[in-house]
Amino acid sequence: MNWISDDQRYENAEFRRCGRSGLDLPLISLGLWHNFGDVDSYATGRSILRRAFDRGVTHFDLANNYGTPYGSAERNFGRILAEDFAAYRDELIISTKAGWDMWPGPYGNGGSRKYLLASLDQSLRRMGLAYVDVFYSHRPTPDVPLEETIGALIHAHRQGKALYVGISSYNAEDTRRAENILKQEGVPLLVHQPSYSLLNREIEVDLLQTLDELGVGCAVFSPLAQGVLTEKYLAGIPEDSRAERSRFLDKDSITDKQIGKVRSLLALARQRGQTLPQMAVAWTLRDPRVTTAIIGARNVQQLDDTLDAIKNITFSSEEEKLINRITI
Ligand SMILES: NC(=O)c1ccc[n+]([C@@H]2O[C@H](COP(=O)([O-])OP(=O)(O)OC[C@H]3O[C@@H](n4cnc5c(N)ncnc54)[C@H](OP(=O)(O)O)[C@@H]3O)[C@@H](O)[C@H]2O)c1
Repeated sequence: MNWISDDQRYENAEFRRCGRSGLDLPLISLGLWHNFGDVDSYATGRSILRRAFDRGVTHFDLANNYGTPYGSAERNFGRILAEDFAAYRDELIISTKAGWDMWPGPYGNGGSRKYLLASLDQSLRRMGLAYVDVFYSHRPTPDVPLEETIGALIHAHRQGKALYVGISSYNAEDTRRAENILKQEGVPLLVHQPSYSLLNREIEVDLLQTLDELGVGCAVFSPLAQGVLTEKYLAGIPEDSRAERSRFLDKDSITDKQIGKVRSLLALARQRGQTLPQMAVAWTLRDPRVTTAIIGARNVQQLDDTLDAIKNITFSSEEEKLINRITI
């Protein structure tokens, strides 16, 4: 029998409008960068996705090279979509990206039209989809004319293979340029996807302001700093943690100084009656210019814990001051 989602799934779900578009996104979205590849448990990944949707998470974020090996997160997601979510496609916002290394040779990485459009076709095949909701340029590529990279997004949009387009990790100036190129072709820039957490506040310098001015949404990634903003690293590096298992989280980056900050933040989270992951995600959402926080989860317990962040996303000015003292 087909899986049936909880019919109360939108009861406690909250959404925010993505910039000046007509699209709402859930306050918390789920990313499939880690934990959904062929090296991971398919059954666990499936349970995480079911649970997320049952709790009103309508947005799933992917990229061509997510999972180990590359492409496997999209393939596994496609299988779960077909097995469990076929009836729910129109309730889902599915995004994918191209820009980082994907296949060998000069056409499998970067910002060329050749790479982006071929990659989108591959992503659609892997996920068994006719279109994605959002197609992103995954990173700025200064060696490629911006007109070419953004032109590929425009083409995908016109083909109907992407309902909306986005950019990731672009600075404020290139974001303005990209938005302008799109605007001239009548294609709105839906969303920007930058890194943002208590341990990485760079977007506060000028990107958030720029997005607000342009009416572009902001989907922040790694709000838990890949798991550093949890209690797991307080007494060393656990074997099952990302720092131990993934090349993307360098053990050496988890310094005593950083762990000192995490301890102070944990004390504040406890005062607020939240777990540290809950406070960390809530903090990114305190700013209405942030549309959604894209989290990762290795199991259903982590997901459930973090999703409860939305129960309290308000911070007093004293709490803000304390956080600034700890983190800046
Ligand atoms: N556009 C880009 O360039 C870009 C880059 C990075 C990420 N992203 C997107 O953002 C998504 C999220 O990134 P992320 O996975 O780095 O996010 P994150 O939420 O900062 O980190 C997730 C990791 O933290 C740990 N964790 C999560 N919840 C926990 C909890 N409640 N208690 C204890 N540990 C918990 C788990 O790691 P352990 O395995 O250690 O338990 C989990 O895999 C990605 O999947 C992707 O969609 C985009």
